[in-house]
Amino acid sequence: MIKQETVDKILDAARVEEVVGDFVNLKKRGTSLTGLCPFHNEKTPSFHVSVSKGIYKCFGCGAGGDSVRFVMEHEKYSYPEALRYLAGKYHIEIEETERTPEQAAAQDRRESLFIVTNWAGKFFKETLWDTEEGRTIGLNYFRERGYRDDIIQKFELGYSPEGWTALYDRAKADGHKDEFLEATGLIIRKDDGGVYDRFRGRVMFPIHNLTGRILGFGGRTLKTDKKTPKYVNSPESEVYHKSDVLYGLYQAKKPILDADNCYLVEGYADVLSMHQAGVENVVSSSGTSLTSGQVRLISRYTKNVTILYDGDEAGIKASLRGTDMLLEEGLNVKVLLFPDGNDPDSYVQKFGSTAFKAYIAEHQQDFIFYKTHVLLRDAGNDPVKRAGVIHEVVESIALIPDAIKASVFVRECSVLLDIEERLLIAELNKLRIGRAKKADRKMEQPQAQPQEEAPADNQGTPVPVARVSSDLLHEREIIRILLHYGSKPATWEEGDIPIAPLLLSGLSDVSFDDSACLAIIDIYREYIDRGELPEERVFIAHRDRTISDLAIDLLATKYSLSPNWNDEKRKIYVSHESERLEDLLYGAIYRIKKRKVEQQIVKIREAIKEETDAANMEIMLANYQRLKDVSKVIAEKLGTIVVK
Ligand code: GTP
Ligand code: MN
Repeated sequence: MIKQETVDKILDAARVEEVVGDFVNLKKRGTSLTGLCPFHNEKTPSFHVSVSKGIYKCFGCGAGGDSVRFVMEHEKYSYPEALRYLAGKYHIEIEETERTPEQAAAQDRRESLFIVTNWAGKFFKETLWDTEEGRTIGLNYFRERGYRDDIIQKFELGYSPEGWTALYDRAKADGHKDEFLEATGLIIRKDDGGVYDRFRGRVMFPIHNLTGRILGFGGRTLKTDKKTPKYVNSPESEVYHKSDVLYGLYQAKKPILDADNCYLVEGYADVLSMHQAGVENVVSSSGTSLTSGQVRLISRYTKNVTILYDGDEAGIKASLRGTDMLLEEGLNVKVLLFPDGNDPDSYVQKFGSTAFKAYIAEHQQDFIFYKTHVLLRDAGNDPVKRAGVIHEVVESIALIPDAIKASVFVRECSVLLDIEERLLIAELNKLRIGRAKKADRKMEQPQAQPQEEAPADNQGTPVPVARVSSDLLHEREIIRILLHYGSKPATWEEGDIPIAPLLLSGLSDVSFDDSACLAIIDIYREYIDRGELPEERVFIAHRDRTISDLAIDLLATKYSLSPNWNDEKRKIYVSHESERLEDLLYGAIYRIKKRKVEQQIVKIREAIKEETDAANMEIMLANYQRLKDVSKVIAEKLGTIVVK
């Protein structure tokens, strides 16, 4: 581990404008520096660097952070890698902490597992190229399937010998321990204590991590009988977490960045064939359904995914399932089916790479439209089935986090489905509100306010609403005030004490539900207890991403957060905000209190409805009355706060 003092030195030295400036051409505009965002494609700059705050923020794609985060995102480095990069840039010597014996043991064990898997990779590779058995069986198989030698080498393919202990014997001769061979699943221990190789007589596909080290293997049988499983795979281990790995990503990451698109296929063979055809931005989930970890992995490199499927009935079904996660992560999803039961591998091998490239260019279509077509085709003229189609299509659109993108789909699907746009939007909003409610209930927050009606645009068409729970808005507003004004003096108070302790003492009876907001409040309380105030950096550079993301978002937000108050006066309100800190502070305190009290009132009202015991009812009614009184007092207080 890098010592905290070194980390502090690096954070102090790494000026955001210099670090970002190495990659982005920054121009001075007003108080900040702007440039073209390196994280998404744009023609007009929406990427801002605030020198005073030490952060960058893109108002186009939402990317934001400090120097370290920038290097992590831009260079795809881990946190320690990013620190090392910055230390290099600023000539800072890195001091490491002593590892505890447990840390050392865990790290050494992981390292030992890596050594064994990488040794095995070399063993399989050498067997393939340098032994009689490997060449005649394994290498011949690959060549007969049409794979060129450079592709076989690029993916470090191999062959595992038929003998029951070929790998084991060699491993022992090379001094490897049973413990690590077993933990990586390369050998299997029998009940009688004897061991045998997991992979025997199979062609081997090593699975690499992002830096090219081998984590595990897939082994394909060359037998055609139905009894032998086609693939045998390495089990999960301390170094191989299947749900966070995509086959081929190591070889594909640069091509994915360059193409700003990722093809997703089912098999190892598809990945190889596509590389061979010159389409290198391709990864495989290796036959299992995508996990959220894998989706996040892809979205580090691109927001555009094209799923390639077999064109048979099963492929079509599969293409309609399993896309939810991609849509929810905000990815743009396209699909493409191959004709007559071909998969990408067989198509390339049959028709060649030119035809293949032409086919994918011509036939990929947006997932939502594709789904609409397929479902409509199956529904025929049955009106009940057609209504079902509408619902299913809207369900997919509702997953798209970007409201503007969703509204484009609504418009186009209304044409495809031959239904008025406004009806689709109504359906969409119903789903969204339902979902928001469900999420609220999950957080055990009763719905205190009546449903907000969908806002209408000037033609009277309702606009899709991206609902942020209004509880969250109140909590975030408090955090925003803390971050922006926490250390400013409360000039209206005796002794000019800072805003932060004043605000927090006013909220001592308020409980925060959002975990990131709560964490920030707790950090403030800790510092205040010591008579200090935390610097912005504590939050911006926080290791918990939900905390740093929230802080960066709010620091980049100049505006009051709630759409529900002062709407029409928002502009004026904002520009004068810092001059009216007292009103801002008490306004926020009373609003969040009002909200929390209203919630309690709803809760107790519900409970009263259900209560059958008279004595209990009495107590509840008294509580109810008390809450009503509190709520009235708060309303009066709020009424005295002038909103200019
Ligand atoms: P080829 O038949 O050689 O073209 O292999 P493929 O890689 O195209 O495999 P296929 O399309 O049949 O299956 C897709 C993926 O599912 C494979 O790459 C494997 O990751 C996985 N898979 C297929 N069969 C099995 C199996 O029997 N066991 C396991 N565990 N995984 C399998
Ligand atoms: Mn195949």
